[in-house]
Amino acid sequence: NAEFGWSAMTDSDDRASMSKGSAETGLPGGKNVLVQCEDGIAWVTLNRPEKRNAISPALAAEMLAVLDALETDDRCGVLVLTGAGESFSSGMDLKEYFRATDSLSAEARLQIYRVNAQWQWRRLMYYPKATIAMVNGWCFGGGFTPMISCDLAIAAEEAIFGLSEINWGIIPGGIVTKAVSAVMNQRDALYYIMTGETFDGRRAAKMGLVNEAVPHAQLRERTAAIARTLLEKNPTALRAAKDAYRRVRDMSWDGAEDYLFAKNDQLRFLDPEKGREKGMTQFLDEKSYRPGLGAYRRDR
Ligand code: COA
Repeated sequence: NAEFGWSAMTDSDDRASMSKGSAETGLPGGKNVLVQCEDGIAWVTLNRPEKRNAISPALAAEMLAVLDALETDDRCGVLVLTGAGESFSSGMDLKEYFRATDSLSAEARLQIYRVNAQWQWRRLMYYPKATIAMVNGWCFGGGFTPMISCDLAIAAEEAIFGLSEINWGIIPGGIVTKAVSAVMNQRDALYYIMTGETFDGRRAAKMGLVNEAVPHAQLRERTAAIARTLLEKNPTALRAAKDAYRRVRDMSWDGAEDYLFAKNDQLRFLDPEKGREKGMTQFLDEKSYRPGLGAYRRDR
């Protein structure tokens, strides 16, 4: 598909010139979503800057295809989700996602909504690679769901967030209210759900909605530094660790204890590099590292 060509992306202005054919990499994306793989980091950029990266049905479908492809692509060790231009995402596209689908049958609308749910949380939340949302600018409504579904989130201090649904007569639907309740405390969540007021990246970090906020000029470098830390870890263990966290949250203590034992047993079975043994050998026998202070050497 020539339309869905591979694209590299560092600046929204030179998007067109960086577009390359999909034959080169075999990855989808290239229109509403740009993908650039660099040293193990897949930079995935929502790319409708002229619409502030509003999420249209076409963007949702393209994101799902990108997630599918990167899942098994060795060039992606850590996935970073960000937005082109001055926006992370202005949320669901009021025109294409809502107005244009209002006249469709309930079944047809469900199909469209389902694709969106697939990429925004059903897939992203349990993604087998580590994920970081890099919130570079506006983040509204439906933009919260993929941001929260990512394992970590780093925001520009200048980024502006808002649960703006109340400002146009709806509630944070899709699954936004549920997603927000997983990371914000009740007072903050209800305050912003009910007032629709905006807040900046610093406030988002204080509330724990994002891990940290840094000046916009340092955003990419800080995100890359965190991604590099994650890339040093055993990827099979990293996957099990994040998956286990999501799964045990809603379990009983008894269920969680048993699940975590089973998960660790599963990890020993699945891990091709036998990290647990390497870690113990390098610490206990070779005394070449301290697990309390960093990861074992994966190349030995
Ligand atoms: N859905 C559809 N179109 C959107 C959009 C959205 N969520 N967000 C922005 N756009 C479109 C605008 O309609 C405009 O289109 P046009 O150029 O064809 O007229 C274009 O993107 C630029 O938007 P504009 O409002 O002029 O940009 P801005 O930089 O002045 O303001 C925002 C940016 C994000 C503050 C503003 O666009 C906005 O409030 N968007 C809606 C945010 C929202 O409530 N999202 C929740 C959805 S659940």
